[in-house]
Amino acid sequence: MDSHEAILARHSARAFRPEAVPREVLERVFTLAQRAPSWCNIQPWRVCVTAPEVTRELSKLLLAATSTMAIEPDFAFPTKYPEPYSKHRRECGAALYGAMGVGRDDGEGRRRAWLRNYEIFDAPHAAVVSMDRRWGTYPAIDVGVWLGTLLVAMTAEGLAACPQAALAAYPSVLRELLHIPADEGVLFGIALGFEDGAAPVNACRTTRSPLAENVRFVGF
Ligand SMILES: Cc1cc2nc3c(=O)[nH]c(=O)nc-3n(C[C@H](O)[C@H](O)[C@H](O)COP(=O)(O)O)c2cc1C
Repeated sequence: MDSHEAILARHSARAFRPEAVPREVLERVFTLAQRAPSWCNIQPWRVCVTAPEVTRELSKLLLAATSTMAIEPDFAFPTKYPEPYSKHRRECGAALYGAMGVGRDDGEGRRRAWLRNYEIFDAPHAAVVSMDRRWGTYPAIDVGVWLGTLLVAMTAEGLAACPQAALAAYPSVLRELLHIPADEGVLFGIALGFEDGAAPVNACRTTRSPLAENVRFVGF
């Protein structure tokens, strides 16, 4: 698969087969993503990848946190979505809930869908991504560039993934189990493994705006 094909094939997977990914395959894709560019080459991403047993323990603790703890991300989640972002968010939700067969007014179904995040979608591995709390916007961009590079590298390798800001909602749980240093803030997690191709949720596909909504060409 070349990079063009991998970019087009990549999508967020939200159901995984139970098999672990061999460690050498994980090391290969994470090594490739190390090539991502960053501000002054500071490489600010800090990543903890869990083996299946640790992933299940993490899931158990996070599921418990959903009913006992307040959401307290280290980096604030967006709370307001002005247009056109609100429209994109609604469409993304409709695509996901549609694939899961969850109706618009099915509050319980939506809660179950949200809780699937904390089951880490049954993925055998999670990558928890943090960065030094002292950094601001530009190093966070670097981590985003790294994430994009990693996701494409994983697709080319036959792996599936879903970035998960939801995993950053309870950072104290992650910090304690995974020994994330206090001076690092958790940005997001990534569920990763082999895609369960039979799961209806994995039929979810999102659309993109026409190019002119995002990109202007000047002087052509
Ligand atoms: C930083 C980041 C955080 C995300 N957090 C979540 C999440 O918590 N749960 C989830 O199901 N999807 C999450 N996603 C996946 C997005 O919903 C998805 O990328 C978007 O809808 C586009 O769909 P696609 O990845 O299939 O192209 C996240 C994506 C990114 C880049």
